[in-house]
Amino acid sequence: MSVLELVDIGHAYGQQPVLEHLSLSIAGGEMVALVGPSGCGKTTLAHIAAGILQPSQGWVRRAYRRHGMIFQEPRLLPWASAKVNIGFPLQLAGMSRREANHHAERIAATVALRPEHLSQLPDALSGGMRQRVAIARALVADPDLLLCDEPFTALDVTLRRRMQDVLLEAIQARRFSSLFITHDLSEAVRMAQRIAVMDQSGQGILGERCPPGRIGQRSAAEIFEFVQYCLHDDPLFSAAGMGGS
Ligand SMILES: Nc1ncnc2c1ncn2[C@@H]1O[C@H](COP(=O)(O)OP(=O)(O)OP(=O)(O)O)[C@@H](O)[C@H]1O
Ligand SMILES: [Mg+2]
Repeated sequence: MSVLELVDIGHAYGQQPVLEHLSLSIAGGEMVALVGPSGCGKTTLAHIAAGILQPSQGWVRRAYRRHGMIFQEPRLLPWASAKVNIGFPLQLAGMSRREANHHAERIAATVALRPEHLSQLPDALSGGMRQRVAIARALVADPDLLLCDEPFTALDVTLRRRMQDVLLEAIQARRFSSLFITHDLSEAVRMAQRIAVMDQSGQGILGERCPPGRIGQRSAAEIFEFVQYCLHDDPLFSAAGMGGS
């Protein structure tokens, strides 16, 4: 059964259509990556999935308890410490600040934030640390669906890999579902069991591919080989404007 179903979604900003006839569903416990070139409407779709934006057409069926969202930019409260930012969803839900802080500290450790970072304001943190705060904030309320909009783009290669592992561990330990948006095909192959490829001008999902092997168990060589195959030999990716020469 699907935890999230986007049915025949269309969206326009003013007179400018961005998405048309896009349908996508995510099953319970499934990790789906959504890939497509810059500007094709991935963030717009993520916001529709999260209920932040109402689509101009189509509908969204939700059968999950709670979602967490990692935005493309960290979107932290500038006046609040990292710890308060992480625990903010819990405080919004009515938890005391003291208890929310306790949960924030616990989850911060899993995304490689050290205790001394937690008292800092976002401005005093590096871009990578800010994004880790945003990841912790998405995980703190124990979501059963995680919506990720290019969450690791601002991180350097080593940290990016570490954060991918953190997220994979969290997802596999708690068995939640995830929509992972990225324009990096290697990341999609690493993070997902199914990759949905978006049309370059937002006209729906052109096709889907399931990389061989299991999430978290694919070696770097296997990921590289599959990405090379997709980019050079699979017409789906050239049709989406992602193919190599
Ligand atoms: N609030 C807005 N008002 C008007 N146009 C917008 C708005 N947000 C996005 N757009 C336009 O909609 C299109 C899709 O934008 P969106 O951010 O969804 O793409 P994206 O696939 O996430 O791109 P990227 O990979 O660069 O993050 C772009 O042409 C963008 O300029
Ligand atoms: Mg985007």
